[in-house]
Amino acid sequence: MAIDLRSDTVTRPSDAMREAIAHAPVGDDVYSDDPTVNSLEERVAAMFGKEAGLFAPTGSLANQLAIRMLVAPGEELIAETNSHIVRAELGAAAVFSGITTRTFPEKNGLLKASDALEIARPNSGPYLVSTTAIAVENTHNFGGGTVQPISEIAALRTGADELGLALHLDGARIWNAHVASGVSFLEYGKYFDTISVCLSKGLGAPVGSVMLSTKERVTKARVWRKRYGAGMRQIGLLAAGAHYALDNNIDRLAEDHRRAKEIAVAIAAIDSSLIDPSIVETNIVGLDLAALPITAAELAQRCRDAGLWISALGPKYARLVTHLDFNDAQCAEAIEILKKALVA
Ligand SMILES: Cc1ncc(COP(=O)(O)O)c(C=O)c1O
Repeated sequence: MAIDLRSDTVTRPSDAMREAIAHAPVGDDVYSDDPTVNSLEERVAAMFGKEAGLFAPTGSLANQLAIRMLVAPGEELIAETNSHIVRAELGAAAVFSGITTRTFPEKNGLLKASDALEIARPNSGPYLVSTTAIAVENTHNFGGGTVQPISEIAALRTGADELGLALHLDGARIWNAHVASGVSFLEYGKYFDTISVCLSKGLGAPVGSVMLSTKERVTKARVWRKRYGAGMRQIGLLAAGAHYALDNNIDRLAEDHRRAKEIAVAIAAIDSSLIDPSIVETNIVGLDLAALPITAAELAQRCRDAGLWISALGPKYARLVTHLDFNDAQCAEAIEILKKALVA
């Protein structure tokens, strides 16, 4: 059986999670009649100190519903250059919501509030685009699982308030940020107007994200979710998997972080230009192959031939993500395969 480290989305529901799914009370969620969905939305909203939540089938949709509530057509969202909203949602903000984006680059995606605030241009009058919101990704996926410092988030909030801007958190992996930093979900929640969290990445549910905000925004977002065709029926089945994931799979993320660090340390020992292990704080290991005579696609192929699946996300950038279906024995095996593939 191959070891699959392409993403933390490749996990399969455990027997216990399937059991919870099988016995979930359900109803028609388009009528807001599904008790398991309703309790999940309330639960996640309370965790982050928000008034309401809305279940969404994907993190992308949760992000898109949220930013649509903050930014009007023709207005601007600012986000980091390699953020998921900018790079991996296929222009959805522009296509669906008429939102323009401007970006600021950060090394490893690590937020510096002043960089975002510097390019913000609210109330730009009739000739220039007005900024209305800033998005933060925590942890930062393509940055290598980077945890955003709470001091920078707080500084961003202060600056955003001075400029009259809203803040969105793409918290697909906020669980990893919490476990790595010890910062509470309530603390993260208080700085943002809208939040998206994902239950199907590190936490291992098969499907599901939740968008969080005020009752008013969530009520409006519910209409847009239906308009986009994502009004679903007996999805308590999915929400039950998400409840199970919240009950059982948050604290264990520390194991994923430990294994990612082990991989990073082993790879840095081969060639320190590939990765600085000190920046691996969560479950993502990003490899910079710039100094090696091998492309990311070639490395991924060599690994695949040896039974390890990794992602080639750029010509010279490969990514490995640890997750709950990856154990210590597989970690040792993955390290051996990587060592051989890198020096071959
Ligand atoms: C940071 C981040 N946000 C949002 C998403 C989107 O999630 P989905 O694939 O469920 O649309 C991802 C997916 O990997 C992600 O890494």
